Amino acid sequence: MSHFSADPAPEHRDCAAIICAMLEHSERERLSQLLREYMGAKRHDHSCKVATACVRLARIHAPGLEDQAELAGLLHDNAKSLPAPDQLAIARERHLSISAAEEQSPGLLHGKVGALLLKRRFGIADPVVEQAISDHVTGRPGMGLLSGLLYVADYVSADRELPGLDEIRTLAQSDLDAAVFAVASAKLRHVIERGLLIESNTVDLYNYYRDHARRNRMEEQN
Ligand SMILES: [Fe+2]
Ligand SMILES: [Fe+2]
Repeated sequence: MSHFSADPAPEHRDCAAIICAMLEHSERERLSQLLREYMGAKRHDHSCKVATACVRLARIHAPGLEDQAELAGLLHDNAKSLPAPDQLAIARERHLSISAAEEQSPGLLHGKVGALLLKRRFGIADPVVEQAISDHVTGRPGMGLLSGLLYVADYVSADRELPGLDEIRTLAQSDLDAAVFAVASAKLRHVIERGLLIESNTVDLYNYYRDHARRNRMEEQN
């Protein structure tokens, strides 16, 4: 079952539709055109909507990261259309650590591989954006703020239709860490329901943010 809504509305097919964009128009057009070479219309639309969600979350939680949020959102899935064996080959060639779940489902590597391709494909050399793109599939315990923004934005973007999404969208407005935990929980449930191998980073992420969110709640109460 697809997690995306049906065909994107025509007005959302272009990245000019990023409502609260931070990048210069010409730079967004350049990246958007390049992005089209690497993915179909639906995934391109998803990328634009994740960029919008990511900028909106950055505006609330990290105003200094808005432009990087747009970049990360726009380019996060640039490697997703690569055939799985190619993703695995690139990861091996670049000596990335590959988990058992990634070995079994190489599509999980599209974040790490997409981060590697950022400079070659788009001329972008920003370590924070690279890290966020690398982290966005499974998340990572203690990941940085931009990684957290992208991890949540990728799940709550306007093209997603998932049970319980409105609650997570609301939560993301007020508490980003709690939203990261809610997304990790939902992803874990989905993996378990489908009988798939659980990626160890997602379990570590779940445990880390569970404790983190608990600590924050206790501090607020004291
Ligand atoms: Fe992705
Ligand atoms: Fe995505």
